[in-house]
Amino acid sequence: MTMKIIFVLFTCFIYEASTIQLPSSCPDLPFHDIPTDHLFHKKVKPLVIAHRGLPKEYQENTYDGIIASLDSHADGFELDIYKTKDDQLVVFHDDNTMRMTGVSKVVYNSTYQELLELNITDTIVKGGNTYTFGKKRKIPLLEDILKVTSKHDILHYLEMKPSEPLRPHELQLAKDTARLVAQIIEKMGLVKKAIIVSFDFRKVKVVKAINPNITVGTLFSQKFADKPKSRYLEMKELGNLEQCVKDGPEDTLEFFKFVLQSGLFFKQAGSSSFDCDIKLYNNPKYLNKTLPTLRQNYSRTVSTGFYTIYSMGKTEEQHLIDERKALQLIKQGGGQRFITDDVKRARSLLGKSSSAGTILKMNSFIICLNFFVFQFHF
Ligand SMILES: *[C@@H]1O[C@H](CO)[C@@H](O)[C@H](O)[C@H]1NC(C)=O
Ligand SMILES: *[C@@H]1O[C@H](CO)[C@@H](O)[C@H](O)[C@H]1NC(C)=O
Ligand SMILES: *[C@@H]1O[C@H](CO)[C@@H](O)[C@H](O)[C@H]1NC(C)=O
Ligand SMILES: *[C@@H]1O[C@H](CO)[C@@H](O)[C@H](O)[C@H]1NC(C)=O
Ligand SMILES: *[C@@H]1O[C@H](CO)[C@@H](O)[C@H](O)[C@H]1NC(C)=O
Repeated sequence: MTMKIIFVLFTCFIYEASTIQLPSSCPDLPFHDIPTDHLFHKKVKPLVIAHRGLPKEYQENTYDGIIASLDSHADGFELDIYKTKDDQLVVFHDDNTMRMTGVSKVVYNSTYQELLELNITDTIVKGGNTYTFGKKRKIPLLEDILKVTSKHDILHYLEMKPSEPLRPHELQLAKDTARLVAQIIEKMGLVKKAIIVSFDFRKVKVVKAINPNITVGTLFSQKFADKPKSRYLEMKELGNLEQCVKDGPEDTLEFFKFVLQSGLFFKQAGSSSFDCDIKLYNNPKYLNKTLPTLRQNYSRTVSTGFYTIYSMGKTEEQHLIDERKALQLIKQGGGQRFITDDVKRARSLLGKSSSAGTILKMNSFIICLNFFVFQFHF
């Protein structure tokens, strides 16, 4: 009799078999690791990623805010990209300009000139918190930012918008946005410094198809948990996943769990990195023991991260809850990217800002140990 017992050191959870089974029509898709010569591997994990720049000091996604993040000791910065109606890439977060400028325009349906006329307000309310800034600012061109940042050894974590992946009429916008992003990454020499991500796996897939050397990642949002399977089936670009999606669970929530657990869209898009709201991890509504499941069903080496630590819209109480969860996820070998509104505080939590970096050193040790899996036969 042969019994196989697998001990995973310091990761004291036992994997529970997932209740969702993969239909036999689902293809066995390859997983893409982040290339060994990518800047990602040269930085000490967890990475602190400046979310939309330094949004407490400069309005989010502005030129000044992103450039200031270069001097913040962040390992990387994150920003959001839209293609304008006249094929310019601008840096902005929302589909509509109302929240940031007080004027209503749909970013991807406006020309760059129309957007340039708008002023990003000097007062921004987030959650119950009001933030004021020294002056109004403009919506920047991506290229103006990359001209400066590409000269620095900083991870470029660039998100393609809009997020909504399930509106078939926006397929052309998705393809055009992805093509322009892939082109500018090549042109600025950022292939080994950037991770291109989106909630819209179609855009991610197009970037990877244009240049397989570009590292891409997929974002997951619990907001997709109310999108019925029929919305996925409306899409023309499911490719070899069509039958698999048809054979997957009918129930909307079960289908979301299926997408999350299986990593099918993630892998089909060619993704290497997974990021989601920290609340999605180990959420009993969606997926308990998220990290072991992703390691099992995506890849043992999948890189995972979360947003948004010290979000400007959250309370101090929420920050403390997030901190505890974030440190727990690191101990389980996840949390490689801390996407944060407060770089200084995140660095301090992780021991990156002082010589007393004990948490960080301990975590590196544990992450290292996680790679050792001992198999005994007897
Ligand atoms: C953007 O423009 C397209 C084409 O005119 C239109 O179909 C779509 O509804 C517009 N989107 C929004 C959010 O206004
Ligand atoms: C933006 O600010 C400039 C300078 O103050 C002003 O001339 C312009 O009218 C403003 N744009 C809008 C759309 O309010
Ligand atoms: C990807 O990288 C390889 C090795 O450096 C190179 O030969 C190839 O041309 C690159 N592909 C693209 C699409 O740039
Ligand atoms: C996750 O992996 C397990 C073990 O390989 C497998 O039985 C299960 O079907 C997978 N679940 C999904 C949704 O892919
Ligand atoms: C997670 O675990 C809890 C408690 O055991 C259970 O009630 C819940 O159904 C589980 N959630 C999922 C998605 O399996």
